[in-house]
Amino acid sequence: MNLKDVKKNAREKMKGVCAICRECNGVWCRGMVPGMGGSGNGSTMQRNYNKLNEIRIMMKTLHNVKDPNVKFNFLGKVLSSPLIVAPITGLNYNAGGAISEEDYIDDIVNGSIECGTIAMIGDGGNPGFYKWGIEAIKKVKGNGVAIIKPRENSEIIKRIRMAEEVGALAVGIDIDGAGLLVMKTMGQPVGPKSIEELKELVESTKLPFILKGILSVEEAKIAMKAGVAGIIVSNHGGRVFNGTISSTEVLAEISEAVGDKMLIIADGGVREGIDVVKFLALGAHCVLVGRPIIWGSVGGRREGVKLTLETLKNQLYQSMILTGALSLEKINKNMIYKD
Ligand SMILES: Cc1cc2nc3c(=O)[nH]c(=O)nc-3n(C[C@H](O)[C@H](O)[C@H](O)COP(=O)(O)O)c2cc1C
Repeated sequence: MNLKDVKKNAREKMKGVCAICRECNGVWCRGMVPGMGGSGNGSTMQRNYNKLNEIRIMMKTLHNVKDPNVKFNFLGKVLSSPLIVAPITGLNYNAGGAISEEDYIDDIVNGSIECGTIAMIGDGGNPGFYKWGIEAIKKVKGNGVAIIKPRENSEIIKRIRMAEEVGALAVGIDIDGAGLLVMKTMGQPVGPKSIEELKELVESTKLPFILKGILSVEEAKIAMKAGVAGIIVSNHGGRVFNGTISSTEVLAEISEAVGDKMLIIADGGVREGIDVVKFLALGAHCVLVGRPIIWGSVGGRREGVKLTLETLKNQLYQSMILTGALSLEKINKNMIYKD
């Protein structure tokens, strides 16, 4: 199996919800939520693609970097690369029936481990989503991260306990899911958190706590004050608030303000290895990959996920040779071309 076949398979199975475009720029799928697109007119997902694509990286080939090290230390666990699988739920309705939720979870948790990295599992209105994710993490001896919806604190803490029981590496919430009114209509309200509420969550567990969906320096600083171990600079793949900015627009500022004090993860539009260099040059320590992993799973199941991650890792390795970066720490803002 190669990635071309995986994508071809996925394209057939996802007819009507995802065209697996050559440029995954959010145009074909705009407004398709449920589906694979960005919400509203899809402008935020398109912005993710456009802003990332505008960044140009300087090439350097007169140096000694012949075998760069792409390994990444995620909160004490060494991963084969800084590529982590994003938490994604609702595959049963978002992927147009191309794959079941249980199969998808199984593919991402195992496929990522087979590639030496990890997946984050998500949460949603169907209680099965989180439960199946936790069961999958248990089977791989805790090698995964659980991201919970911003429910009432008592409900989040119940789910943190489930993650602790299976030995998960970290827990967190996708705070940018605060406006998901559909969760309320299902009797499971979500909402924003005050710093006190956030502190209560952080202090409720010994596990590192990760806050997903931060898009400003101001809120990154609040997260730091609340004691989180890390933030994910993200707009949820453009799916929750059409009209907002892309993570790449604010990442450098956030990194400057808090990057040496906590883990900075970022996502939105990672499709090639060079995209990882761009995110790291802007100050992220590692990245999440979303939609390409769905294609991998739908088109090639666990093997497809592994192949997708391996390909990105190899492209990152090659990009580091072509930029003269011996390790991930050597990737920095001076590599970005300023025009
Ligand atoms: C179909 C779909 C479902 C998603 N479900 C969740 C979720 O349950 N929890 C979450 O934190 N993020 C969710 N996300 C957002 C991803 O975790 C991630 O932030 C985003 O997909 C990254 O952008 P990319 O797809 O361009 O790589 C979802 C994204 C997609 C496309």
